[in-house]
Amino acid sequence: MKILITNIKELLQVREDGIEKVSGKDMAVLPSLQNAYLLIENNIIADYGTMENCPNASGIQTIDATGKTVLPSWCDSHTHIVYAGNREQEFVDRINGLSYEEIASRGGGILNSAKKLNETSEEDLYLQSRTRLEEVMQQGTGAVEIKSGYGLTVEGELKMLRVIKRLREEYPIAIKATFLGAHAFPAEYKENHSAYIDLIINEMLPKIAEEKLADYIDAFLETGYFSVEETERIMEAGKKYGLQAKIHVNQFTAIKGIEACVKYDALSVDHLEIVTDEDIEVLKGTKTMPVALPTCSFFISIPYTPARKMIEAGLPLALATDFNPGTTPSGNMNLVVATACIKMKMTPEEAINAATINGAYAMDLSKTHGSITKGKRANLIITQPLTSYYQLPYAFGSDLIDTVIAEGKVI
Ligand code: NIG
Ligand code: FE
Repeated sequence: MKILITNIKELLQVREDGIEKVSGKDMAVLPSLQNAYLLIENNIIADYGTMENCPNASGIQTIDATGKTVLPSWCDSHTHIVYAGNREQEFVDRINGLSYEEIASRGGGILNSAKKLNETSEEDLYLQSRTRLEEVMQQGTGAVEIKSGYGLTVEGELKMLRVIKRLREEYPIAIKATFLGAHAFPAEYKENHSAYIDLIINEMLPKIAEEKLADYIDAFLETGYFSVEETERIMEAGKKYGLQAKIHVNQFTAIKGIEACVKYDALSVDHLEIVTDEDIEVLKGTKTMPVALPTCSFFISIPYTPARKMIEAGLPLALATDFNPGTTPSGNMNLVVATACIKMKMTPEEAINAATINGAYAMDLSKTHGSITKGKRANLIITQPLTSYYQLPYAFGSDLIDTVIAEGKVI
């Protein structure tokens, strides 16, 4: 099965160097080819180059991309796509003046979603979640991480992770699963944190490991949620089962959580709306990818990750959606890229690097995803005719995607 894409106006993120991530000044560079072709064989990028070297198209399915831009699909390394119902009432409560924290302290927020999830059957949860997965695939996402964390009971967490597994089996998209039992303390454990952490470590983790349901472990390391010490217990337990950490940290407060994550060799630290100079120093020279979630900042009106300061300090940065019912009910990666440009002053080149190759790194997928490289998976976005790729973030409300190719097939 071959597909030849011809007359591509601009082929973006072309990397023969096999790099895994880009950092600091290198983020400003987006290698590209003008007037290009790209050949797909089965689900792999087999070849590409400029049109004068284009192979003979006879007998091959051909897509004429005259005037169009082709780029690797988005790599969304942080989502909570599997959830039940919605939190529209909390959205209106915030409009009427309540903050995210106030809603949570009244039993809303994560606990509200957990109640709904535990009342929803596995089949219904699967059906609700696959609608969102199909939507983000049409919006150009070609690899995605999905977290548990709205069960907060043994059965609820397993139900979420089984739904993630089923999505992985049924859709042509790479999916990584993250166990987030430490998302919030259920009401009955409010005064007894260690008992809930015991439940996570002694009841949830062994079952999850036995059924091979998770790739990573996460916790909401935040004032009022999981402390540094509590998160360290979680990371330590995850490590015993081979689950590397990807941690929610520094969303509202900086309490030296990043330092603890780096100590545990976390694959990523995510949110980072509040970042101190010490946090930046701690991240320098490590393998931990900082991940910003700008549409979360947009939706609940909190600060944006200080991307300029971090990039200028030489750090890498990835961008992800955080698609979830409470703080970001959107999985639109183009909107994330646009918001990063508009609100975080990232250039289009930096934002596209952050949403492709660096996103892939934050899921341990940069050997197969995140760039136009021979041998990588054929996950591509073919845009409508564009004046330049600046139009993607500039026309932030437009859907400029013409065709999505997932694992070598037009979807
Ligand atoms: O990444 N901050 C923690 N967790 C989620 C949102 C949880 C919720 O409100 O449902 C996030 O923003
Ligand atoms: Fe999140």
